[in-house]
Amino acid sequence: MHEGIAIRHARPEDMERVSSLSAPFVEAGQLVDRSLAQLGKAVDEFIVASHGGRLVGCAGTVPAGKSLLVYNLCIATEWQGRGVGRRLVEVAMGVGRSQGYRSVLAVSRYGGEWFEGLGFSRVIPSETRKEWRSLFRPGRNSGLYQLNLAAEHGKGPK
Ligand SMILES: CC(C)(COP(=O)(O)OP(=O)(O)OC[C@H]1O[C@@H](n2cnc3c(N)ncnc32)[C@H](O)[C@@H]1OP(=O)(O)O)[C@@H](O)C(=O)NCCC(=O)NCCS
Repeated sequence: MHEGIAIRHARPEDMERVSSLSAPFVEAGQLVDRSLAQLGKAVDEFIVASHGGRLVGCAGTVPAGKSLLVYNLCIATEWQGRGVGRRLVEVAMGVGRSQGYRSVLAVSRYGGEWFEGLGFSRVIPSETRKEWRSLFRPGRNSGLYQLNLAAEHGKGPK
């Protein structure tokens, strides 16, 4: 990853920038529209990537049963393809692992192949657990992707 990039927990004053960073991806139908008020309340769930004081990437993490859901993951267009997204997901995986979650989940409409490249597998809808069903929003036609944290290290239950 680019050496000038810092990854850290979000602070309340970041959330307006998280909102503007997300806006073009919401516009393109890649992210769910969340108001600044909603994002503000979720500050503790967010990790951000910054470069020289500029916010270039963000991701939210929220519990979904025994899994940790990564949501609102986006990287500023000019910073894409430089490993920032991968790094944010790796940090989310570290958070999940340290807090005892079994897996990391992501809901994605167009980024499925990208998540598969990071080791995620698509969850077959008929096998989707009840606790995950609410993650699918009607009409969005998105896929659910899962990365098993326990299996990754060959320990613990699947
Ligand atoms: C999807 C997204 C988060 C990826 O972030 P990124 O910083 O550009 O990705 P990275 O540079 O970390 O890519 C990691 C790897 O994926 C590969 N990759 C990039 N685009 C890919 C694609 N469309 N399909 C498969 N693999 C891809 C890269 O080559 C890289 O592999 P490497 O590390 O082995 O070289 C970013 O493009 C984005 O913000 N998209 C718009 C919002 C969105 O769709 N979010 C996902 C829904 S939650």
